[in-house]
Amino acid sequence: MSFGRLSLTGLVSILTACAATENYNPLEDYEQLTPVTRLETPVARANSQFSEEEVNRGRYLVGLLGCGSCHTNGALVGTPDNSQLLAGSDTGIAYSNPLANRNPGVVYPSNLTPDMDTGIGSWDVDDIIRMLQTGVDRHSGQTLPVMPWPSYANISAEDSRAIAGYLLSLPPVRHDVPENVRPGQRATAPFVHFGVYQSRE
Ligand code: HEC
Repeated sequence: MSFGRLSLTGLVSILTACAATENYNPLEDYEQLTPVTRLETPVARANSQFSEEEVNRGRYLVGLLGCGSCHTNGALVGTPDNSQLLAGSDTGIAYSNPLANRNPGVVYPSNLTPDMDTGIGSWDVDDIIRMLQTGVDRHSGQTLPVMPWPSYANISAEDSRAIAGYLLSLPPVRHDVPENVRPGQRATAPFVHFGVYQSRE
């Protein structure tokens, strides 16, 4: 029997996903949250690569654009950890529908502080600008629009440089976020879901 271009691993993950969906009641898996999060933006360090004016502008923009509301641990569920501002989230965001499938795909907002191993310490200004404007990461991978780059696509060169300058001047925080999870795979770290559902009629 041929499954066309579907590989055996592909087939196994579809079967696993189907088994996980059988008799699935999403009400058992989810609880309603009403997170209210007020976030500070961390103070940057002096950095000879960027002017103080640029870094201050970057800090203002990062606060205004709400980067920390995803990229800070606890912020997505209303309990932000102020010692880990912008250092990535252990709570992920589901990008496929968890009401239809028990094991949705999940992305975990990255550590945006310049830690070499766990953050963006090895990114340069252009890498960050490209991510903001096109969602393409350093390894030429296209990021899902869960990271709202389509909303940032028209940001000016000056403003995106200011954001990059601010992030690269932050004190590095060591914090590994959980690995992203593909649809059908079971997430081992928590996640939230923002959905848009249209009535069928
Ligand atoms: C709605 C949530 C959300 C908001 C708001 C958000 N991001 Fe993200 N961002 C993400 C997620 C999720 C990822 C990881 C995407 C992935 O792994 O595919 C990400 C990835 C990134 C990356 C790539 C880092 C890496 O190591 O790969 C950068 C840089 C980034 N975001 C910067 C920003 C900046 C700057 C802002 C504010 C202007 C911002 N983000 C706002 C969710 C968000």
